[in-house]
Amino acid sequence: MNVLVVGTGYVGLVTGLCFAKLGHNVICVDKDVHKINALRNGKVPIYEPGLQDLLVEQLGARSISFVEVVPESTKADVAVIAVGTPALPSGEADLSAVYAVVTELACTLPAQALVAIKSTVPVGTAQRIKDRMVRVGRSDLHVASVPEFLREGSAVYDVFHPYRLVFGVMDSRSVAVLRTLHAGLDAPVVVTDPASAEMIKYASNAFLATKISFINEIANICGCVGADVTQVAYGMGLDPRIGPAFLRAGLGYGGSCFPKDTRALVNLAGENGYDFQLLRAVVEVNQRQRLAPIIRLREEFGSLRDKVVTLLGVAFKPGTDDVRESPAIDLCKALHTEGARVRLCDPVVTNVDQYLPDAPVVIKDPYKALDGADAAVLVTEWPEFLRLDWARAATLMRHPYVFDGRNVFEPSQMRSKGLLLANIGGRGHDAIPHVMV
Ligand code: UGA
Repeated sequence: MNVLVVGTGYVGLVTGLCFAKLGHNVICVDKDVHKINALRNGKVPIYEPGLQDLLVEQLGARSISFVEVVPESTKADVAVIAVGTPALPSGEADLSAVYAVVTELACTLPAQALVAIKSTVPVGTAQRIKDRMVRVGRSDLHVASVPEFLREGSAVYDVFHPYRLVFGVMDSRSVAVLRTLHAGLDAPVVVTDPASAEMIKYASNAFLATKISFINEIANICGCVGADVTQVAYGMGLDPRIGPAFLRAGLGYGGSCFPKDTRALVNLAGENGYDFQLLRAVVEVNQRQRLAPIIRLREEFGSLRDKVVTLLGVAFKPGTDDVRESPAIDLCKALHTEGARVRLCDPVVTNVDQYLPDAPVVIKDPYKALDGADAAVLVTEWPEFLRLDWARAATLMRHPYVFDGRNVFEPSQMRSKGLLLANIGGRGHDAIPHVMV
């Protein structure tokens, strides 16, 4: 098939390359000239495992090309919309980029083409796009909602191994087109109406976010009553009705999806006169959780004025260079407010100027970042930090205090290396060893 993908962010670029690998002819469009030039030259502008090799391979196979504007007369069978839908200050999703693309597609797509919406959009958007197409005389175009469920850091794997494909369609022709587009992927297919497909995306992200806030609340109670949250999560997760995934307590969820989508769903409910109380609490708990280390640092030091605090990890999770809504950003701001001197350390992120006024430079070498520090907070569980020679780090630090914000360190091992270890949810005592699933 001839496939046009508009938007080359995480979702657009990964799906475009994966569709090319599946045997389609793909044209990716992005108005960012620098990005398009880099991609044409075989350089992936983001850090995403496996993507660089896939780009070089598909450029070599001539199955993908990159352009700055939607070509005037495209032969596309399918146009995938994968542009950003950032949150407005109100929490509402900003759809201006989506509608700008829709206008372009209405002028350029051939008869009977399918517009597949992959951007995360409020329920009802696919229908509104269809209505707009009809109003401008393009009732021949088909519109479907095809939400994406890939995760940053494992995006290529996720596209080739989806848990499910969701086709929110208005007619049976669209189902046939989408089946051909995804031929080669082995996953259950949910064929439904566009509104339900749009809601499946929001509800899935909101549910996963709820699991995280739930376990973080349990962790906080564990900390008060002398239980160990990692043991509790393990014990809970063995029940298949609960499942072990997304029960890792920590500094809360970040990234470009959960924070934005949970707020958008709260907002969507509110606009429809419904108070989504549970999800509002999930959002609040997440916000509070990311500042948990500050309380513990205050207990340790009293005042944090002029204390040197190293944040180990800036990316919102390992395997990505994405810093959007990373707990590190909020922590850095809060520590600055307390008068602390913050050092940032990350193996992949190189700067955060866009997200933090007066941002400190990001140090790549953890030993350098820990040298002379009064405290360290593990924000992102990069393997580089887990493999560190912590005995050496303890001798470098002025005060060897480590707050494990992801509960990944074995407390007894860290203490035997001379570190003062604190963590989330009571993982302080030496629990009976277990194997996490
Ligand atoms: C998430 C979803 O997992 C994808 O299915 C979805 O397609 C994507 O959002 C999206 O809407 O585009 P992503 O944001 O890349 O993917 O990352 P996740 O691996 O889901 O992690 C999200 C956050 O939750 C991270 O900050 C992570 O540290 C945190 N997390 C995750 C926990 O704190 N505890 C856990 O047990 C799991």
